[in-house]
Amino acid sequence: MAGSDAGAAGDASVGRLVAAARAARQHAVADFSGFKVGAALETDTGEIITGCNIENATYGLTVCAERVAIFKALSEGKRAFTRIAVVADTASPTPPCGACRQIIWEFCGDIEVVLANLTTATATLAMKELLPLPFDKRLLGP
Ligand code: THU
Repeated sequence: MAGSDAGAAGDASVGRLVAAARAARQHAVADFSGFKVGAALETDTGEIITGCNIENATYGLTVCAERVAIFKALSEGKRAFTRIAVVADTASPTPPCGACRQIIWEFCGDIEVVLANLTTATATLAMKELLPLPFDKRLLGP
């Protein structure tokens, strides 16, 4: 889907989701890296919950945009999600980090991950592609 904000299936709501992630990116608290990221999570009812990365002076307590969006959504009682858009100002797609892949998988499952920059959607992947052999609660037994 390079060169376009339309979804793989031509879904116009992908453009809306990416736009929300771009807007959320404006709120990034990225004083240390200068690398601003926005995320927008879509619920099964079409609602959008956004997040941005939040850094602090310890560096290590940084929370990525994706996890902020997911934790916000969970804290508001949302439990079913269809896709997430991630926006950074990079020519190549900026994919979720390993920690975010784990959290996306556990709370959202095999959703569509739309990667975009400030002008263009650069890639769309399934979570299964990003995390092909996940650890999750199924392995913890009954
Ligand atoms: N970051 C995100 O928020 N999401 C990603 O997908 C990649 C990385 C943030 C974390 C940190 O604040 C900054 O980008 C640089 O790593």
